[in-house]
Amino acid sequence: MKIFLDTANVDEIKQGIEFGIVDGVTTNPSLVAKEGKGFLPLIKEIIAIVPGPVSVEVTATDAVGMIKEAEEYAKISENVVIKVPINLEGLKVIKKLSEQDIKTNCTLIFSPSQALLAAKAGATYVSPFVGRIDDISGNGMELIEDIAQIFDNYSIETEIIVASVRHPLHFVQSALIGADVATIPFSTLSKLLNHPLTDIGMEKFLKDWEKVAK
Ligand code: G3P
Repeated sequence: MKIFLDTANVDEIKQGIEFGIVDGVTTNPSLVAKEGKGFLPLIKEIIAIVPGPVSVEVTATDAVGMIKEAEEYAKISENVVIKVPINLEGLKVIKKLSEQDIKTNCTLIFSPSQALLAAKAGATYVSPFVGRIDDISGNGMELIEDIAQIFDNYSIETEIIVASVRHPLHFVQSALIGADVATIPFSTLSKLLNHPLTDIGMEKFLKDWEKVAK
C-alpha cells in the first residue's frame, strides 16, 4: 500500500520524505488555508520536494472553470494530480482531463455508486473519506470494502485512496482490504510506529549494553 501525506505543510512533508515512507501528497483547500501562504507558490514548493503524485484541488464549481484551473496546475509538473469533487460537473471534468492524460483524484466520495461513476468517467484515483463517515456514526471502512469489491469485479484500474484517515486502525484495515493508497495526516504517522513494548525493549537493551565490557 502506498502512503501519501495528507497535508500542505512543507516541514511535515520534508520530514515524511526523510523517513523514507512517503509516496505522494494530497492537499485540499482547507489544508492549504491552514498554511497562510499564497496558493500557487505553496503548491510549487510542495511539488519541488515530493518525488511522487501531489493532489491539487480545483475550486471552481462549473466544468469550464474547473478545467481551466486543472490545465494551469497540470502544467506545473507531471506529478500534479487534479482533485475534482464528485458531482455532475466533476464527472465531465474527469472525462475531459482523462482524454488529455491529466491525472485526476475524485474527492468527497461517500458512497460506492459515486466511486463507480468516477471510475467510469476515467478517474485515476477515488478518495473515499472514511473518518467523516465514522463521525456521523457510519462505518467508513465498509465503504472501502465495497469499492474494492466493485473495482475488483470489473477489473477497474482506478486506485482507491483511503482519505480522512484518523487513526492507525484505519491504516491497518486499509492494508488488509488491499486499498492502493492511504493518505494520512502527519500526526498519525508516529502513531503507526509507536508501541510501548518497543520502547521498553529498547530501554532494556541499552541498559544491558552498559554492562558489556567494551
Ligand atoms: O484530504 C481529504 C481528507 O483526507 C480530509 O480529511 O480529516 O478533513 O476529514 P478530514
